[in-house]
Amino acid sequence: MDYTSLKTNIINKKSDIYLVGVFTDKKLLHLGKSVSKQNIDMAKRCFEKNNFTGVIGDHRTLDDHITGQQILFFGLGEKGKFGPLNLNRSIKSVITKIKKVNLTKISLNIQNLIIKKNDINIEVLVSYIDDSFYKYIYKKEKNISKIKQCGLVSDTIIPNKMLSKYVLSGKAIASGIKFAKDLGNTPPNICNPTFLSNEALKLKKINKLLKITVLNEAKMKSMGMGSLLSVSQGSKQPAKLVSIEYMPLKNQNPIVLVGKGITFDTGGISLKPSPNMDEMKYDMSGAGSVLGTMKALAEMKVKKNVVGIIACAENMPGSQATRPGDVVTSMSGITIEILNTDAEGRLVLCDALTYAKKYKPKYILDMATLTGACLVGLGKYPSGLFSNDDKLADLIKKSANKTGDRVWQLPLYDDYFDELKTNFADIQNIGGRYGGAITAAAFLGKFTEGVKWAHLDIAGTAWEVGENKGSTGRPVSLLIDFVLSN
Ligand code: BES
Ligand code: MN
Ligand code: ZN
Repeated sequence: MDYTSLKTNIINKKSDIYLVGVFTDKKLLHLGKSVSKQNIDMAKRCFEKNNFTGVIGDHRTLDDHITGQQILFFGLGEKGKFGPLNLNRSIKSVITKIKKVNLTKISLNIQNLIIKKNDINIEVLVSYIDDSFYKYIYKKEKNISKIKQCGLVSDTIIPNKMLSKYVLSGKAIASGIKFAKDLGNTPPNICNPTFLSNEALKLKKINKLLKITVLNEAKMKSMGMGSLLSVSQGSKQPAKLVSIEYMPLKNQNPIVLVGKGITFDTGGISLKPSPNMDEMKYDMSGAGSVLGTMKALAEMKVKKNVVGIIACAENMPGSQATRPGDVVTSMSGITIEILNTDAEGRLVLCDALTYAKKYKPKYILDMATLTGACLVGLGKYPSGLFSNDDKLADLIKKSANKTGDRVWQLPLYDDYFDELKTNFADIQNIGGRYGGAITAAAFLGKFTEGVKWAHLDIAGTAWEVGENKGSTGRPVSLLIDFVLSN
C-alpha cells in the first residue's frame, strides 16, 4: 500500500472511496471542507433515518453528488473510550468491508484518529491498515484486494520526509506481524523446528547486521541442555535453538526476547485429548512473535541492541519419548523431575533462558503459549504478564496500552515456588491443581534469578478460533514498541 497526505480544505474527488470515522456522538466537524455542506446535511439525515449509531462495526455509505466519490462512514465507538485498541478494531472492520470490492484508491479522514494524548500516531495507524489486508496464502491464489493507494486526509499536510518515515515504520510493524501470522498458520508438517531455523536464517537478507546462529542437538547436548532435549526426544524432527543477534551499538546490553517454539504439541506420553489438537500447531507462536519482531526491527534499522532466541522442538510420543518420572539436568545445573510431558514449554524455555543470560541482558522477555490455565483465567483478550521486576512490568503495560496489545499482570508470590518441590530432583515441572499459569511462570522464574525478566503467557491471545481462525501475530506490536521505547 502506498500512502499520501491530502488536505481537508477542498472538495474534490480524492479516491474511489472516502472513509470517515464517526464517534457515537455522530459529530462531523472533522470533515472540514472535504465534503460539501449539502452532503454533510445529507449524511446527518441518513444517520437519523437509517439509525447509524457510530458503534464499531456500523457502516453507512453515501454518494457525494458533487464529486461522484463514495463516502463510507464507519463507527469508532465512544469518544471517551477511543484509543489504539478501538482504532485497530474500527479500521479492521471497515477494511474487511471494502477489501472485497473492486477499488484501487481509498482515502481516510485521519483528523479525529490521530490523537497524541491517546498515543495514536501515524505509524500505528499505517500498521493497522496494512495488517487489515493480511491473508494467509496457502494456495497460489491472487491477492483479492486491488487497493493500492491510501490518502490520509487531514487539516495539515504531513511533510513528505516525515510521512515516508512513519510509513516505513508502520509497514515494518505490519510486515513483522504478517511474518508471525504466516509462521503460526503454516501447517505443522511443514513448520517444524528445521523450517523455523531456516526462516530465521533468511532474515539475514534484510539487514547485514543480523547475526544468526543455529544450534543443533549435538551442540545443545555439549552445552548441557538436557531439559530442552528431553522434549524433542520422542520426535523424528531434531530440536533447534536459534539466536538472532542484532547489535548495531557497541557497549549496550541488549534486550533479549525468548520464544517458545513447539511446532506441534501432542502432549507427548502425557497425550492430549483429540478435540482441537490441530490448534497445537500454534504452540510455536512465541517463537513466531520473536521472529516477527526481529524482522520489523531489522527493517526499521533501529539503533538498539536486541537478541531474539527461539527454542524449537516438536513434542511427540514414541518409544524414545520422555516418560513421566524422568529426571533431566538443565543447562543451569538445576535438575528437573518431569511429571507431565505436556508441560514441555517450560522445559525448552528454561534452557533458552539460561542461554540468554550469556548476553548480559538489560531485560529478558519471554513469550510462550504456555498454559491452558492462562486461557481459563484471563480468556482470549489479554496476555498473562509475570515479572520479577515491577518497573519492567510497568514498562510492558505501557507498551501494551500504546499498541492495544493488552496484558494483565498476575502475582509471583513465594508460595507458588513452593509448589515445585519434589523428593526426586531440585524441582518438578508442574505445580498443584490451581493457578497453573502462575506455577508455570514460577518455574521459569527459577532460571532467571538476578536478571530483570518478564514472561508473557500468550496461550489465549496468539490465535483466534471460529470463523476467523488464525494466528493474531500477537504480541509483535507490543514487543516492537517495548524495544523502541526502552
Ligand atoms: N501448549 C500448551 C498450553 C496450551 C493449551 C495453550 C491449550 C493453549 C491452549 C502447554 O504445553 C500445555 O500443554 N500446558 C499444560 C500444562 C499442564 C500439563 C501443567 C496445560 O496447560 O494443560
Ligand atoms: Mn503441552
Ligand atoms: Zn505446549
